[in-house]
Amino acid sequence: MDLMQEIIARACADKQRIVLPEGTEPRTLQAADRLLAQGVAHLILIGNPEEIKAKAKELGLNNIDKAEMLDPLNHPRRESYRDLLMELRKSKGMTKEEADQLVVNPLYLACLMIKAGDADGELAGALNTTGNVLRPALQLVKTMPGISCVSGAFLLFTQAKHIGREGLVVVADCAVTPNPTAKELSEIAVASAKTAQAIGGMEPRVAMLSFSTFGSAKGEMVDKVVEATRLAKELAPDIAIDGEMQADAALVETVAKLKAPNSAVAGKANVLVFPTLEVGNIAYKFAERLGGAIAIGPILQGMAAPINDLSRGCSVDDIFNMVAITANQAIAAKNS
Ligand code: ACO
Repeated sequence: MDLMQEIIARACADKQRIVLPEGTEPRTLQAADRLLAQGVAHLILIGNPEEIKAKAKELGLNNIDKAEMLDPLNHPRRESYRDLLMELRKSKGMTKEEADQLVVNPLYLACLMIKAGDADGELAGALNTTGNVLRPALQLVKTMPGISCVSGAFLLFTQAKHIGREGLVVVADCAVTPNPTAKELSEIAVASAKTAQAIGGMEPRVAMLSFSTFGSAKGEMVDKVVEATRLAKELAPDIAIDGEMQADAALVETVAKLKAPNSAVAGKANVLVFPTLEVGNIAYKFAERLGGAIAIGPILQGMAAPINDLSRGCSVDDIFNMVAITANQAIAAKNS
């Protein structure tokens, strides 16, 4: 987990403005208190300031006053954000009445702050479902140029220290796109490689996973991964991407020698791309709950600005780490 210390240090050295829409949620406040004490980010807590301060006092927190607080119902930029919202959703026919209602929703407000240049990134999800966090982000912040598909990666710190970066592998999509097309899967592969570089400090070697290794099985599902591999190589010719391959061929050198002797990725993969969300979401939870891995994420990829989602079962540590990761994504975006 030395990597997390690196990520935190990078965030402290170049403080980003991270908005937390669930500003009165206890775990969020506890994490915010530690983040503010260590100077990891400039935090914007959305919520009634009196309520935020009262909750902080109740929890015995001493640093919350260092955060910026924004009351969604009562702040000077409410009308300008409402107008921005109407402008962004004009093509969808959003009325002034609808915009007036949505602009006080903290999840929409956070995205509007990012669009207006008043925040660099957002983290939410301790209270809200993934769908509710993602919808405003997809509608307002949208995808980065050249990318049509948002996905969610995890940093998986496994016990297998000989694999990846001392046991660390990046896995995706575990959070967003239920059944990606071949083109979407190719974008997920490239975005995951970039996450491995920017957040994991790794030289990515991307395996496109399947139940087939280089033609050992046939069918529609295999064809999708074969086509996605071709498109991903075209999209990012400088990144080592290969497939289709089974997970053992991707991770184990002796198996790779038997099943995929000519692949530069097989046996050495450190980025694992799943063919569907179903397998990605189940696999990372298996690794975590049965294999003793530590999973940090989902880190949303492909969005035009860093916005991340938490599991509602998240811990204070999860929120602390994900704010640091969101800040690192914002730093990487500014430097790219
Ligand atoms: N990438 C980019 N844009 C997208 C994507 C995507 N993957 N999905 C939807 N959009 C865009 C649409 O184009 C649309 O834009 P528009 O309104 O400007 O035309 C907007 O987002 C809304 O699209 P809808 O399809 O209406 O949105 P919906 O809310 O139905 O679905 C969502 C989007 C929320 C991402 C949905 O696919 C979803 O719920 N995915 C699964 C999330 C989940 O539950 N994950 C598992 C739990 S997470 C965990 O365990 C870590």
